[in-house]
Amino acid sequence: LHIVVLMGGWANERPVSLMSGEGIAKALEERGHRVTRIDMDRHVAARIAEAAPDVVFNALHGVPGEDGTVQGMLDLMGVPYTHSGLATSVVAIDKQLTKQALVPRGIPMPGGRIVKSADLHQRDPMPRPYVLKPVNEGSSVGVAIVTDEGNYGNPIAADAKGPWQDFAELLAEPYIKGRELTAAVVDFADGPRALAVTELKPKSGFYDFDAKYTDGMTDHICPADIPPRIAELCLEYTLTAHKVLGCRGTSRTDFRWDEEQGEDGLFVLETNTQPGMTPLSLVPEQARYAGIEYATLCELIVAAALR
Ligand code: DAL
Ligand code: MG
Repeated sequence: LHIVVLMGGWANERPVSLMSGEGIAKALEERGHRVTRIDMDRHVAARIAEAAPDVVFNALHGVPGEDGTVQGMLDLMGVPYTHSGLATSVVAIDKQLTKQALVPRGIPMPGGRIVKSADLHQRDPMPRPYVLKPVNEGSSVGVAIVTDEGNYGNPIAADAKGPWQDFAELLAEPYIKGRELTAAVVDFADGPRALAVTELKPKSGFYDFDAKYTDGMTDHICPADIPPRIAELCLEYTLTAHKVLGCRGTSRTDFRWDEEQGEDGLFVLETNTQPGMTPLSLVPEQARYAGIEYATLCELIVAAALR
């Protein structure tokens, strides 16, 4: 096949996308496909039309590659593309819309409130500890955990500085103490399957951007050493989220688990429709655990786009 691997762009996650894209491009070349690498810019539609590929492999993360914008463009052009379509992307990129879609389907998620970052100077949006995060970023860009003891001091103070300052609106959620878990789904010819549960153990602090992409900063335990019932729930919620949101190719759902609360302490944080494909990323790692090589994973994602 002739495959355009679309990567880069101008999102905050550009460096992550370039790593994902290069890995994917090399793997697809190894499998004998003709690959054209395109770093996304404002002229991307013309460049894809000129390349005239059989399929676009969307290796973008964040806005506008993960929020439906690029998906809508490719729909309009009539070019098949990997991963989720327009409507799914619009919902899944927005952590608050995702709650509205998944909570009524029995998936537990922390209650959230949208706050204007300017209003943070007036009062805490909820009792501490809580998490502030942009509604539509990935890789923990812009995330702050506000505690009484933490680094952010008092966000109420007029001179308070924090990652929230780059965003007009933020989602505030109660902080769930405990463990960080994640599970991936891949679409096979006979349907989607959840692969495994991984526990992420950052060596210090929380699983932030640096902990995600610096080798050695986080231990990945796959399969996670958790009770079978918790693992089963993670896999079930991940598969349900994939189906309810209408994801395609692959998706990865992230969790927090407060083990003191048992089953009641398990919460979904979000579903990622364009999960990372870098050497330290979790979907490739779970695929390996399930006996699927990286290049085979890429080809499964392509096959789902062409069905
Ligand atoms: N947003 C990053 C790429 C992920 O979900 O893996
Ligand atoms: Mg994410």
